[in-house]
Amino acid sequence: MENVFANTPAEERIIVALDCGRDEAVELAEKLRGRAKWVKVGMTLYYACGPSIVAAFKQRGYRVFLDLKLHDIPFQIEGAAKSAALTGADMITMHTLGGQAMLEAAQRGVNAAAKERNGQTAVTLGITVLTSMDENSLSQIGIERTPAEQVKLLAGVAKDSGISGVVASAQEAAALREILGPQAYIVTPGIRPAGADAGDQSRIATPAQAFENGASHIVIGRPITKADDPAAAFDTIVAEVS
Ligand code: C5P
Repeated sequence: MENVFANTPAEERIIVALDCGRDEAVELAEKLRGRAKWVKVGMTLYYACGPSIVAAFKQRGYRVFLDLKLHDIPFQIEGAAKSAALTGADMITMHTLGGQAMLEAAQRGVNAAAKERNGQTAVTLGITVLTSMDENSLSQIGIERTPAEQVKLLAGVAKDSGISGVVASAQEAAALREILGPQAYIVTPGIRPAGADAGDQSRIATPAQAFENGASHIVIGRPITKADDPAAAFDTIVAEVS
């Protein structure tokens, strides 16, 4: 299925995951400035630095994906999502396992924040099944579906709740695009440019494969951040998929 992101320039569809300490993250943001448009801040960096780390990237012109994977009762999540959006974040995540009422609460929180941000709305993404989980670990917690079936079921919950989209592996992206439709955000990590070191990722795809499968955005960390020349690594990926 076609998607509405197909004509967006590649550099606006690549999110660089800055999984390191503050100084290194800011240094990388300087090196990638003017090229990359998005950075991802995960829990490690955020809990170490707080909202000022989002501000540090926003000041340098980046859009920020704040990946805190919220999961709590709806009342708490409405407030958390609002606070997360008020940091200036442009994209936030929550676990779909929290259920439809929780996801709707997250969306309300983000909508409330938008009123205080000149109408600027953060994208809301649902986490389906962590890629660290397999059939056995799902069974251990009482879920007797395959990971793929569970992902599809939870994507349906995400859709019904009206959030913007999901985080998923590139392998799942095509099936999710069918479920979620052409407008949905489908953000895929586990990306390795052809020939790059897989590291601890197992179900990997190249940037081009992920986009072909219907990803709206791809998340790439170490193939860019650990490269001798991160800016050149970023440019090579953009050229590959453009
Ligand atoms: O360095 P690498 O490209 O593997 O970084 C991928 C990023 O995407 C990391 O920040 C990781 O936490 C995140 N991620 C992932 N797999 C998921 C969800 C998030 O690799 N299923």
